[in-house]
Amino acid sequence: MPREIITIQAGQCGNAIGSRFWQQLCQEHGISRDGNLEDFATEGGDRKDVFFYQSDDTRYVPRAILIDLEPRVINGIQSGPYKNIYNPENYFIGENGMGAGNNWAAGYAAGERIQEEIFDMIDREADGSDSLEGFMLLHSIAGGTGSGLGSYLLERMNDRFPKKIIQTYSVFPDTATGDVVVNPYNSLLTMRRLTQNADCVVVLDNGALSSIASERLHVQEPSFQQTNQLVSTVMSASTTTLRYPGYMHNDLVGIIASLIPTPRCHFLMTAYTPFTGDNVDQAKTVRKTTVLDVMRRLLQPKNRMVSINPSKSSCYISILNIIQGEADPTDVHKSLLRIRERRMANFIPWGPASIQVALTKKSPYLQNVNRVSGLMLANHTSVATLFRRIVVQYEKMRKRNAYLEQYKKEAPFAEGLGEFDEAKEVVMGLIGEYEAAEKEDYLDPDAGEKRPDGV
Ligand code: GTP
Repeated sequence: MPREIITIQAGQCGNAIGSRFWQQLCQEHGISRDGNLEDFATEGGDRKDVFFYQSDDTRYVPRAILIDLEPRVINGIQSGPYKNIYNPENYFIGENGMGAGNNWAAGYAAGERIQEEIFDMIDREADGSDSLEGFMLLHSIAGGTGSGLGSYLLERMNDRFPKKIIQTYSVFPDTATGDVVVNPYNSLLTMRRLTQNADCVVVLDNGALSSIASERLHVQEPSFQQTNQLVSTVMSASTTTLRYPGYMHNDLVGIIASLIPTPRCHFLMTAYTPFTGDNVDQAKTVRKTTVLDVMRRLLQPKNRMVSINPSKSSCYISILNIIQGEADPTDVHKSLLRIRERRMANFIPWGPASIQVALTKKSPYLQNVNRVSGLMLANHTSVATLFRRIVVQYEKMRKRNAYLEQYKKEAPFAEGLGEFDEAKEVVMGLIGEYEAAEKEDYLDPDAGEKRPDGV
């Protein structure tokens, strides 16, 4: 029985990474731009029905809902090469086409206004599944639509589908460029919903994505198109165990259970190696890839898709490596021993210090230049440094009352700025939780009371 997943893409970033993801899945499963199975796609063994369903004329249609308050990106998808694969009933473009103006509150308020139409689509997709496992929300946390409308949807979906898993792929802003001035406000408000209403958040950070793109793909100022290529590679790799199932990690709940031992610490970082760029000659360099090479590189900070500052006490809560290609279990076993001998990864003191490994197939329909490639999904306590950065930037702006007028005009702030204070409290609590997870007595029920910070 398939464990279907419905993808909701919200805002410019959400739709841009979503369309790249669907393109990648079509290529991996041998699905043509019109949704038909290619003649060469005869291998089988894959599970297309997790992410696609078949229409009456047997075309594959993504279980995807595309939402934006401004038309540009969705119009681009509707006139692009994959325009025919989506269900035309699953597009939602805001009526006035103005977007949310990088204002979380405008996006959230719009969510409240349009919820009926959106939930009609979500319910229809949910009813069309045999055994729905959950949802994937794709969005950025810095603008207005993906963050504000995304936050609204997370809250409602939690109420409406309490037993379904909600996973998000959340793009964090590049704090060095600060392309959205008010990103600390929007990010903080969204972080509250990601903490309270999602089961698992895959953190992707535009700062780290840009530096990986420039170092690995040798492009000086990477475009979104190039960083989105990295994002779609990560998304496709992190879903391979669902699409080419083995005996473990073949549903979302299995992946989450192995990575998230305590529900609040559910923010995952990723690393991928080796990255290759289709259009970049230098990036095509083929080197010898072995399982040990791949696993060692996955632990290197420069391959992480999150910019964090690990402290001495920071550590891994869990690691799942998804290794694709020609890897045999003895190679994996030897590599794990080597990594342990050399103490390449520092783990929490209260749980097993083990790297879990899932070996999966690569798509037989894509040319693979590398023998082995790997994705690391990791729960690491230093992710909290990213959240702390958001709080610090928020406080700087808030102290000066900068840009608050535009928020006050919107419904969520009609009664004052309490939303901000509540969000900050939740995020500070989350940071405290990660700090507590670094200590030996984390699971001790009385530990919080004993510690001076009461975490
Ligand atoms: P409004 O424009 O206010 O309606 O909201 P929105 O959700 O559509 O905004 P958007 O998705 O553009 O969010 C802004 C943030 O997303 C900024 O930090 C951008 O750098 C980032 N961003 C926008 N498009 C992309 C993209 O295609 N890829 C990546 N990686 N980041 C993007």
